[in-house]
Amino acid sequence: MNTVNNDRGVWSSKLGFILAGAGSAVGLGNIWRFPTVAGEFGGAAFVVVYLVAVALICLAVMIAELSLGRNTQRNPVGVYKTLAPGTAWKYLGILGVITGWGISSFYSVIAGWTFGYIFKTAAGTFSNLSPDEIAQAFSNFISNPVAAIGLHAVFMTFTMLILFGGVKAGIEKWSKILMPLLLVILVLLVVRSVTLPGAEKGLSFYLKPNWGNLTGKGIVAAVGQAFFSLSLGMGTMITYGSYLSKQDNLISSAAWVGFLDTGIALMAGFAIMPAIFAFGLDPQAGAGLIFVVLPNMFNEIFLGTVFGTGFFVLLSVAAVTSLISIVEVPAAYFIDEWKLSRKKAVLIAGLGAFLAGIPAALNGNFLNWMNVIFGQYSLIIGSLGVSVFVGWNWGVANVNAEIAEGNPKFRGQRIYGFAIRFLAPIAVAALLVGLILFPDAF
Ligand code: TRP
Repeated sequence: MNTVNNDRGVWSSKLGFILAGAGSAVGLGNIWRFPTVAGEFGGAAFVVVYLVAVALICLAVMIAELSLGRNTQRNPVGVYKTLAPGTAWKYLGILGVITGWGISSFYSVIAGWTFGYIFKTAAGTFSNLSPDEIAQAFSNFISNPVAAIGLHAVFMTFTMLILFGGVKAGIEKWSKILMPLLLVILVLLVVRSVTLPGAEKGLSFYLKPNWGNLTGKGIVAAVGQAFFSLSLGMGTMITYGSYLSKQDNLISSAAWVGFLDTGIALMAGFAIMPAIFAFGLDPQAGAGLIFVVLPNMFNEIFLGTVFGTGFFVLLSVAAVTSLISIVEVPAAYFIDEWKLSRKKAVLIAGLGAFLAGIPAALNGNFLNWMNVIFGQYSLIIGSLGVSVFVGWNWGVANVNAEIAEGNPKFRGQRIYGFAIRFLAPIAVAALLVGLILFPDAF
C-alpha cells in the first residue's frame, strides 16, 4: 500500500476551502474573458445561457470532482489508481497533470501583462496617448521579450512562494487575504462604472436579453466559458477536494464556489459594460477590451489613474489565486505519487510551467494554440472523462455515499445521478462538437 505523504495538507475549515475554491475559480476568466465574450455574443442572452449551464451541468461536474478527491485524498492520477487500479483511467489523471502545466504556462504570461499594467497605469504611461497609440503601446509591450518573459517569471515566482507555504499556510491563507481585497476593488469599480453618465445603454445591453443576438456559436462560447470559469476538467477541484474533511458538506461547498464565481463574473460585467457604452466604445472589441479599451476610459474619468491601477491590481489578484490552483495539480501529483517534499514538488511544477510558458511569452500565436489545446480541448475531454467515470464506472451509489458523509440529509440522489450520468456527459460531448464546428468560439 502507498503511505500518505505528510506533505499533503488539509483546509483548516469549510470557509478556508470555499475561499480557496473561489480563489481558483475567480480569475482572468471572470474579469477579462467573461465580459469580453458576453459583449461579443450579445450581452444578456449570453448571460442567461451561461447561468443555465452553471446550474444544470457545471455544478454536477464540480461535485463529482470534489467527491473523487475527498474520497481518495489523492491528486487526479492517484484518484484513478486508487478507484480503478490497473485500468487506462489513470491516463485521464495524467492528462490533467499535463493540462495543468499547459494552462499555467500561458496563464502566467497573461497574468504577467496584467501585473505590468499596474505599474504602467500608475505611472500615467497612457494618459496622453490617443486610442491608436494605446493600442500600439499594448502590442509593443507584449512583443517586448524581456518584459514578457520577465513578468511571467515574476508572476510564477509569486505563485511558487505561496505554494511553498502549503495548503493551510499558503493557499488558504493567501486566498483569505486576497479574495476580500478583490471584492472591495471590484465593488468600487462597479459603483464608478454604473454611475457614469450614459451607463444605462450598457446596462440594458447587459440585462435585457435580445434573443435575436444569440447564435449557436454564442451558446458554445457560454457553456465553454462556464466550465473554464469554474476550474473544471483538469483536476483542480479533485485536488482541492482532496484537502477537504469528511465533515464538510460537498453540495453546499460546491454551491458556494459556484455562487461566488458567478457573482463575481456578473459584477465584472457591471464594471465593464456600462463604461464601454458610456464612452461609445465597442463591446465586441474582443481580447483587446481590457488592455486597450479600458485604458482609454481611465483617461477620461475623474481619478482614472487610481481606478485604472486598482483595476489591474484586481486582475492580478484574481490571476494569482487561480494560478496557484493550476500549478498545485502537478505539485500534488509529485507529492503523492513520487513522494517528493512539497518544496521540490512545487519547484518542479512551477519551473516546468515557467519554461513551458516562454514560447507563449514570445509569440502570440503560440499562446493562442496553447489555449486551444489545453484551455479548450484538454479541459473538455477532462470534464467528459470525469462525468463518465463518476456516472458509469465509480457509480452513482459511491458518489452519493461520498456526498452523504458530510451531508446525511441530502435527498437529491436521483437528481444528481441523472445529472452526472446523462445531462453532464451529453452536454459536454455537445460542447466538444460545438468547439469543432466553431473553433474560435471562445
Ligand atoms: N477558473 C479560472 C479563471 O476563471 C482559471 C482556472 C483555474 C482553471 N484553475 C483551473 C481553468 C482549472 C480550468 C481548469 O480564470
